[in-house]
Amino acid sequence: MTHPLIIALDFPEAKIALDFVKQFPQPEELFVKVGMELYYHAGPLIIRELKMLGCQIFLDLKLHDIPHTVEQAATVIGQLGVELTTIHAAGGQQMMQAAVAGINAGAAKANVAPAKLLAITQLTSTSEQMLHHELAVDATLTDSVDQLAQLAAASGVNGVISSALEVPHIKTTASTDFLCISPGIRLHSQSTDDQVRIVTPAVAQQLGSDGIVVGRPITKAANPVATYQHIKMLWEGQ
Ligand code: C5P
Repeated sequence: MTHPLIIALDFPEAKIALDFVKQFPQPEELFVKVGMELYYHAGPLIIRELKMLGCQIFLDLKLHDIPHTVEQAATVIGQLGVELTTIHAAGGQQMMQAAVAGINAGAAKANVAPAKLLAITQLTSTSEQMLHHELAVDATLTDSVDQLAQLAAASGVNGVISSALEVPHIKTTASTDFLCISPGIRLHSQSTDDQVRIVTPAVAQQLGSDGIVVGRPITKAANPVATYQHIKMLWEGQ
């Protein structure tokens, strides 16, 4: 997995997601993200179907519950043989350690490579104002993201999901193999939708993101394949 451009398949059902993937000339080169919307509707079958098309998979279910429940759920996810999956760092160290143990146990049971586990620090839809006024967190957004990233690293998690804006800060304290994957990517001309901390693909690359997640700018484009190729070019700095 070197610097992937990951397409968020935020679709309501399997057929739409599979048809979307099949329009690409080389679906086997795609890295796709299956989130709650698609997974809650289509279940583990969609993972098998996307694998059959050759896609690499990021299963983004953002686990956040008591440690035992998360460990059991992570054990099931670990058996699916996906490349990446997520938990919320806000669940705390014990919960993240339980997730790591679950992923490894599931992978061993199914004889597949363990998924890399990424922790959500603060959602890219969260603003500084929301953090203080709605969530009653006194720390700045940057400090909160840093604290959660350090906690994730100390828990044995492989990396974080964070805005590219926070990547340079996270990289100053994290080990070199600690991954920073960034959603909240927009091209200049596009609307932000519900995202707040957004950057362009080129800026994400300059800030040191290890991978980017792009959903609506590609899935809602008039020509998704051309838009994907354009974003890939910008992300790869060509
Ligand atoms: O459509 P858009 O490009 O905004 O999609 C971004 C994707 O990344 C969504 O699937 C969203 O769930 C996910 N995500 C995010 N912010 C995070 C973690 C995940 O936007 N912190």
